[in-house]
Amino acid sequence: MKIVVIGGTGLIGSKLVNKLREQGHEAVAASPNTGVNTLTGDGLAEVLKGASVVVDVSNSPSWEDDAVLKFFETSTRNLLTYEAAAGVGHHVALSVVGTQRLAESGYFRAKIAQEKLINESSIPYSIVQATQFFEFLKGLADISMVGDKVHLPHVLFQPMAADDVATAVGRAAVGTPANSTIEIGGPEQFRIDELVRRRLSALKDPREVIADPNTRYSGARLSERTLVPGDDARLGETRFEAWLTQPAAQIPSAPQPKGVAVENKEKEGQRKAG
Ligand SMILES: NC(=O)c1ccc[n+]([C@@H]2O[C@H](COP(=O)([O-])OP(=O)(O)OC[C@H]3O[C@@H](n4cnc5c(N)ncnc54)[C@H](OP(=O)(O)O)[C@@H]3O)[C@@H](O)[C@H]2O)c1
Repeated sequence: MKIVVIGGTGLIGSKLVNKLREQGHEAVAASPNTGVNTLTGDGLAEVLKGASVVVDVSNSPSWEDDAVLKFFETSTRNLLTYEAAAGVGHHVALSVVGTQRLAESGYFRAKIAQEKLINESSIPYSIVQATQFFEFLKGLADISMVGDKVHLPHVLFQPMAADDVATAVGRAAVGTPANSTIEIGGPEQFRIDELVRRRLSALKDPREVIADPNTRYSGARLSERTLVPGDDARLGETRFEAWLTQPAAQIPSAPQPKGVAVENKEKEGQRKAG
């Protein structure tokens, strides 16, 4: 089966392409680096020729409110239009557990818009909502700086290994369209501030992590279970301590996207001001 992976050069996408190829599928990585741009439509018609399934695991290069909304709206509209023309029978997209509860965040308003377009389209679909990736924990610290300290809420979350995310997305891609949302998560629950502290300590990163009930996650207030998946979620196998021993855990994280630290910088300014 020909499966086009939009964002196939990224963290999840590259793992997914490898897994699908191992299963004998013709998996094609599509992204600006391979000549396919979902924002402009460049290369889309060519790459979708003969494709049965499209998996969208792309992400916006900028997380600034307007830029990220434009990215997910325009890209998703373009994709669905070109997929309909090419006769693609299944659109799979990776989203985030709790997206609908996070509308205070510009990033999550963009993910809500992406999900809505998919829901309303004529193409059969599966939306896979994943919890935060272990690989993102250092990035989470980076976007949560107030001065020289990391401020995070002391609420529950259930993160998972990127490898388990790719496995679950791959399973959705080769299955029949769910025409609904599938939740996936990690095998254990943690408090965000505590796990980020453990992650930084493993990286010998000296930054102090403060449990701060007033701090926001990507611009949204969190309550105890905002980021926790429901009882029907499919759980990945990799536990955090086991992941820490893997080579992937020795790499801190990808560079921080543009636009993410603005809110905390403003907050810092307000604190300094008063
Ligand atoms: N971080 C988390 O904890 C988390 C949790 C749950 C779900 N998610 C979701 O997971 C998804 C993937 O995240 P990730 O961390 O794997 O992403 P990533 O490593 O940042 O990769 C992003 C991918 O998007 C591609 N891309 C960027 N602009 C594009 C464009 N105009 N057209 C086509 N492709 C484009 C990039 O291509 P190039 O390499 O060519 O630039 C790259 O392949 C996101 O949708 C995110 O919302 C993330």
